[in-house]
Amino acid sequence: VPEALDLVQSGDYIVTGLGPAEGRAFLSELHTIADRVENIMVSNCLSMGAYDFMVNPAYKNTFRTESWFFTPALRKAQPNGNVSFIYNHLHLSAYKRLCYRKPDIYVGICSMPDKHGYVSLSVSNTYEKQMIQNAKTVILECNPNAPRTFGDVQIHSTDVDYMIQVDYPLPELADVEPNEKDRIIGKYIADMIHDGDCIQLGIGAIPDATGMALKSKHDLGIHTEMFTDSMVELIQCGAVNNSKKQIHRGKSVTTFAYGSQRIYDYIDDNPAIELLPVEYVNNPEVICKNDNMISINAALEVDLWGQVCAESVGTKHMSGSGGQIDYVRGACQSKGGKSFIAFTSTAKGGTISKIKPILTPGAVCTTSKNDVDYIVTEYGIAHLRGESLGERARQLIAIAHPDFRDELRFEAKKRGIMI
Ligand code: COA
Repeated sequence: VPEALDLVQSGDYIVTGLGPAEGRAFLSELHTIADRVENIMVSNCLSMGAYDFMVNPAYKNTFRTESWFFTPALRKAQPNGNVSFIYNHLHLSAYKRLCYRKPDIYVGICSMPDKHGYVSLSVSNTYEKQMIQNAKTVILECNPNAPRTFGDVQIHSTDVDYMIQVDYPLPELADVEPNEKDRIIGKYIADMIHDGDCIQLGIGAIPDATGMALKSKHDLGIHTEMFTDSMVELIQCGAVNNSKKQIHRGKSVTTFAYGSQRIYDYIDDNPAIELLPVEYVNNPEVICKNDNMISINAALEVDLWGQVCAESVGTKHMSGSGGQIDYVRGACQSKGGKSFIAFTSTAKGGTISKIKPILTPGAVCTTSKNDVDYIVTEYGIAHLRGESLGERARQLIAIAHPDFRDELRFEAKKRGIMI
């Protein structure tokens, strides 16, 4: 690692891989060069570590972090003043960033080389390959625990400038057991999914609960941004076989994998799972090529117009758009497709309704009123596609928590939304 850190020069722009594909050994030590460099910018996405260079205020004048997707560590560090967010639809994240600036250094992970000298970029093909192709220097942490995956993720060792041999376990997503409300929501959505449909599941307990509610289905397909534990379960129990897909028939298509060790073991050396670049996988024009495409994602709040905020609580940035809009649009353009945005009706122990008359001031709109399709809570399903504002309000109030319905009706009438 120290030799790799010697490559960093003042003013450099460093990009690292997404989530478990980030260069953990390098990033853990980056702060140690603070006394010899200045003005270093690092871009990450769903960062797994609370690295000193990123969160420790002692280094805030040397290192700046600009992220495509926040995690709790970045939320906490943002008030230090050296952390910022890059707005993006995930399928255009690399393209748009490269219009702004090309990386001086890319640092990420790879599997051990095969007998031909190729390494696999392992758990993510989101923007990593595009960044590697555009970086002046490529550093890869070669890890025997990094699964060797298939799709467009192979690069030859001779295209890598520096390899660091590491042996740490890949970070795992904490297993959050879905609660009763998550299960009810999962069941509502599962009832609207038919044998042969093609699914995308987003991040969070509800998409997971929906996945688990699909075990009795047949011939499902997978075309997704994130490959999850529940998807492994659905493949292993026979619910998914990808036999009815219009594109990539017989294969599960994804752009990154993040979950438990079970996922990493499953995708290792498994040609049935293809990791393709996000600019392809998440392109709505590609997503919609599969008929009956179903997307399931979560949110933090929605207003009576159907504007969905999935990434901030007021002005406090929480996560990111990720591929939410990519999949909402792709699913709605697919023949027979549906997009579900699902959440429990209240937050903070029942004190806050997630269905609001208007979005909280400062909350960013992730999925727009023009793209929204189904909204689901534990009280049912609202179908907003093609519906008027008044009808949207009526349906959303009907699935809000009963304690908030009168207030929502009052606010809607006050604004002339419901006649
Ligand atoms: N008002 C205030 N706080 C709220 C809130 C609201 N309306 N809704 C949720 N919160 C709080 C929760 O209490 C929780 O707080 P805590 O961290 O202090 O416990 C926090 O916000 C996170 O909420 P939670 O419901 O637990 O989030 P989650 O882990 O289920 O994730 C999203 C939900 C929306 C944040 C997540 O799915 C996301 O980032 N989505 C956008 C990207 C996306 O959809 N990608 C799809 C392709 S992978």
